[in-house]
Amino acid sequence: MCGIVGYLGEKEKKAILLEGLQELEYRGYDSAGIAIIEHHQLKHYKAIGKLSNLKEKTKHFTSTGFGISIGHTRWATHGKPTELNAHPHIGAYSYVVHNGIIENYQLLKAQLIQEGITFVTQTDTEVIVHLFEHHSKQTSTPFEAFEKTIGQLEGAYAILLISELAPDTIFFAKNGSPMLVGFEGDDVYFASSDTPIIGRAKEVHYLADGEYGYATNQAVALFDATGTKAFTKQPLPTDKALAQKDGYRFFMEKEIYEQSHIISETMMGRVLEETIHFEELEENFFDGISAIKICACGTSYHSALAASYLFERMVKVRCSVEIASEFRYKEPLLTHDTLFVTISQSGETADTLKALKMAKQAGLKSLSICNVDNSSIVRESDCAILTRAGIEKGVASTKAFATQTMVLWMLALTMGEHKQTITPTTLAQEITAMRQTPKSLQVTDRLHAKLNRLSKRYLHGHGFFFIGRDIFYPLALEGALKLKEISYLHAEGYPAGEMKHGPIALADSRLFTIALMPKSMHYEKIKSNVEELSARDTTICAISPEPFELADDFIQTHFSTHPMLEFFEMMVITQLLALEISVRLGNDVDMPRNLAKSVTVE
Ligand code: G6P
Repeated sequence: MCGIVGYLGEKEKKAILLEGLQELEYRGYDSAGIAIIEHHQLKHYKAIGKLSNLKEKTKHFTSTGFGISIGHTRWATHGKPTELNAHPHIGAYSYVVHNGIIENYQLLKAQLIQEGITFVTQTDTEVIVHLFEHHSKQTSTPFEAFEKTIGQLEGAYAILLISELAPDTIFFAKNGSPMLVGFEGDDVYFASSDTPIIGRAKEVHYLADGEYGYATNQAVALFDATGTKAFTKQPLPTDKALAQKDGYRFFMEKEIYEQSHIISETMMGRVLEETIHFEELEENFFDGISAIKICACGTSYHSALAASYLFERMVKVRCSVEIASEFRYKEPLLTHDTLFVTISQSGETADTLKALKMAKQAGLKSLSICNVDNSSIVRESDCAILTRAGIEKGVASTKAFATQTMVLWMLALTMGEHKQTITPTTLAQEITAMRQTPKSLQVTDRLHAKLNRLSKRYLHGHGFFFIGRDIFYPLALEGALKLKEISYLHAEGYPAGEMKHGPIALADSRLFTIALMPKSMHYEKIKSNVEELSARDTTICAISPEPFELADDFIQTHFSTHPMLEFFEMMVITQLLALEISVRLGNDVDMPRNLAKSVTVE
């Protein structure tokens, strides 16, 4: 996700911006830029790729005396990661950096184009700077123009804007994307998170949604819809490593908690009032497609498996899923009516990439679902949908899985609408459920404490079975994989109905079964499968909205009529359970042994 820094004061600005951006590298980015106004002179530098490229470009530049400055690392959402699309975006005399997505940018852009304004980038952000300059022609102060501008923006944003019209002022606004203001004497800092300003600012105000204002060396003013506001300044934390993890013990833990918020980014601008729209897909994208084949590895393979249930049920197309390393060598039969989908967090997994190349060679239309723009898989595909999970640092994938599954659910609905296999009423119900996903992904203190308590009972024994039916079977596979990856305990995912065909032979009191028992899907069936295991003295941990008296341990979830909401809630539970078990075993949660985040070899 994009990172923002800003600084107003007498100190050398380039160093503050570049060091600040370096601290935000962990958020992930594909290009970066800075802009500075001092002595009424405007300067900007942009570079694609790593910050070292920007450093190289700015090596002969130093700033002196009072000035204002903004910087940005960009994680592409609208438009390729090119230098032109990198922030700061430039108007005639102003610069803007932005994190988030302006949902109504196309409408605003069309209006500005009618006014004769020329756009040079493919980004949603550029609209902000032009809108500001447009308003500033009619308002008495630049701040009024800024207020008018943000009043027209829909979507999520953290914005810093500077302009020659007010060469001593940084304008700021926040809604949905993170930003804070740091204070130290007359110096003012801005950043997406604590780390860039630790050691520089003494106090910080974490901007709330809807807050905006301006900073000069005379005053920093804060407003919201109700008028002026006072800052609530707090002392800054001093531990950088902790701050990078936003105070969580591990990146994986942070990423689990993040899911509730990140999933909205995945949906933003795509889940609309009455329909789902991917601007990445052309109108006729599904024409001629009567089957889907999905190839992926690891966690991505599990999201693919879950999606196969959705595609067949809602779109009525054959959907087969294959592990990429198997697909490569099986001499697969490929037909031209098949849409070839690859799913990958990194976009660099060697087996998945090879599978994609084979499908392309066979003349199939290809679509990738990926978290990293401009990755090999994205570049190789006819079309790509980004999951917008932000960089995932924990080797055990969590938010990548959640966002992939969400994109696939959305894709099934889009295709179902196109093929008219779902009615408008069903679509409306699905969209209503979809909007509740952030809530299903929330981690409460109570839940986390419970899983922490429970985890001590699951450190020994001779193995785990995670069981579920339908889409909860891939979730069982994923739950088992998470546990395996970070606890090093043996765990398997199984379709609940299949246990009696062999695995039940392992059943005894030292076999742990994690039973996914959603109420909205096949409850009675899975209940009897669990009863069979309980009768053989298996230790049962049931996850369900419905109390289950044979459970040794019971984790109660919320009643929901939609299976996907139950899916996401149970997903969080299995992730946290794996994490807590791993912590108790003293393992390195973020860097488990023998595993790599991106597997670029066969
Ligand atoms: C590695 C990672 C897994 C990941 C798999 C596929 O094994 O450790 O977490 O699921 O690769 O990676 P991809 O980037 O293609 O999703």
